[in-house]
Amino acid sequence: MEIGELLNEALRLVTPTKEEENKVLSTANGIINLLRGELSRRGFGDFKVELQGSVAKNTWLPGDRDIDIFILMPRDKIDLIKNGSIVNTLIDIAVSNNIRWNLKYAQHPYVQYLIGDFEVDVVPCIEIKPGERPFTAADRTPLHTIFVKSRLGDRNGDVRLLKAFFKSVGIYGAEIKVRGFSGYVSELLIIHYGSFMNAVKSISNWPLNGLVIDMTGIYDKATARRRFREPLIIIDPVDPNRNAAASVSRTAIATAIASTRIFLKKPSLEFFKPHHETPGKPPFITPTLVMKLPYPRNASPDTVWGEVGKVLSVIERNIKKQGFKVLDARAWSDETNIVLIMVSLDTLELPPHELHMGPPVNSNAADAFLEKYVNDNNVIGPFIRGARWFVIRKRRVMRVQDVIKSVIRSVSIKYLRESLDHVDFIAINSPDDLNIFDKDLRNIVEDFLFKRPWWLG
Ligand code: UTP
Ligand code: MN
Repeated sequence: MEIGELLNEALRLVTPTKEEENKVLSTANGIINLLRGELSRRGFGDFKVELQGSVAKNTWLPGDRDIDIFILMPRDKIDLIKNGSIVNTLIDIAVSNNIRWNLKYAQHPYVQYLIGDFEVDVVPCIEIKPGERPFTAADRTPLHTIFVKSRLGDRNGDVRLLKAFFKSVGIYGAEIKVRGFSGYVSELLIIHYGSFMNAVKSISNWPLNGLVIDMTGIYDKATARRRFREPLIIIDPVDPNRNAAASVSRTAIATAIASTRIFLKKPSLEFFKPHHETPGKPPFITPTLVMKLPYPRNASPDTVWGEVGKVLSVIERNIKKQGFKVLDARAWSDETNIVLIMVSLDTLELPPHELHMGPPVNSNAADAFLEKYVNDNNVIGPFIRGARWFVIRKRRVMRVQDVIKSVIRSVSIKYLRESLDHVDFIAINSPDDLNIFDKDLRNIVEDFLFKRPWWLG
């Protein structure tokens, strides 16, 4: 297929049907009208209720179930955000209209309404003008919408292609689970580079670090790099004090560079489909320990991922110290029920004995070493090799899971503590050991074992 033809096909994949569009817009309008009525009935008639996010910008993807509605409040009402009363009002409105709802936290609390299979985020913010300092992080969003709508023209299709591309290779979304490219960053990239193909060609030649995209022309590159320390810098055109790409990780940048190179060499519609099966089986299984723990209640994903990261690094450090070689370690979560911590090693169990090096024979520490081991039945030696004392001693712990059990007891964490008390250890030494997992978890573990991204074929 020729590239133009392929992109046309791809555009069909990533553009919602009229029918789906009508459903999204009528759901959004229903809630907007409801909120306008309820808010003015409760004396908040001067609040604006607006459609925001990708639905407002017509850059959402088919199957997306997220609708963003913002309540824009005058600045003298900031207290209603700070003391939670606007959120309480939004909850009241949900309750009195029989709408299922969740309380959510981003930079500040907001309420999510569940309407059919849609998740409607209702976010209070302060209305600001371009150039004004935001009071909350959500205040910039209406300015983003205005900026994108005024600059994007008819290139929504290009944004959709780029978002779908990022999604297919696993780097779409600024949330901590992904640390990739947000919807807004995708839009800025299309505005900056002009088209999907131009964006992809440029990305394939990006440096790993220090790229600056500044459409405001305010910064020179060196100043921007000094000001923002992140590997990718895209100055937010509505707020030059912010790097819109602050959450993009180095791995996401590397994945973007590598996958666009592959795409340009061998374009394929697969890059516009959201889900991909693991493309094959690893040629051999590396010994792997899977820890399966219940997802903690009442904690925001950011907090949980923070603690998971801490646990993972403490585990890695300690098992290395005990003599294991870590090949790869990674955590996964569905952010509702389960956290998986997976560690691949040279072996899951070390031999019963280890060589333990003591001090040089003439050092001050020699006496203590000899005293400690000379009558110890659990060691062979002490003996001299070269200039030092050595012993061969029995290991106290041989199984990696026993090392882990003892170290996780002392990690200082809050939300994951209870989960760690209920951890399941699953040792993987052969493909049969994977049978214990249900289909979804098995896919996650197989992805971890196989490692190779689908787009390498
Ligand atoms: P969303 O994450 O819903 O983005 O945040 P989106 O543009 O609607 O994209 P999709 O299609 O749902 O994935 C809504 C708005 O919040 C601001 C942006 O203005 C965005 O349009 N936002 C969100 C950010 O500025 N940064 C973020 O990391 C997240
Ligand atoms: Mn959205």
